[in-house]
Amino acid sequence: MKKILHFILNGEPVEMEIEPHLTLLQVLRDRLEMTGTKEGCGMGECGACTVLLDGKSVNSCIYPALEVEGRNVTTIEGLMNSRGNLHPIQKAFIEHGAIQCGFCTPGMILSAKALLDENPHPTEEEIRNGIAGNICRCTGYLQIIQAIKAVSQKT
Ligand code: FES
Ligand code: FES
Repeated sequence: MKKILHFILNGEPVEMEIEPHLTLLQVLRDRLEMTGTKEGCGMGECGACTVLLDGKSVNSCIYPALEVEGRNVTTIEGLMNSRGNLHPIQKAFIEHGAIQCGFCTPGMILSAKALLDENPHPTEEEIRNGIAGNICRCTGYLQIIQAIKAVSQKT
């Protein structure tokens, strides 16, 4: 039997009817067409599907959609400001060459945001730990770490 789900997505209220077995990733990509959130492993291991739930990073591929009832979800589409400007972390990823194929990038940026919101001046080790759940097959991580470090040094 379908259930009604209400939550806040990127600052906007959402109300929808869903099958109770759906994951948050399925709701975001297949029902709401928010395709910035990627599906990699589908098993909670690669971080491509990372979104923020009340500011904390979660793997949406293994997160039951009904458990976001009444909560705040942020996807990569929600990071730009109302004037269409990229978030400073997005700008830093571009400036530091931290994006190659881009598949890991939305999840990586959201993990970086969760880290910097909690700890605005992380050490390199803390940055590495903060993105430990996000796998990148292209960059070797160095440029990603440099981009996150650059943002932390600007604030
Ligand atoms: S797709 Fe969710 S962790 Fe890999
Ligand atoms: S840029 Fe390709 S997986 Fe990270």
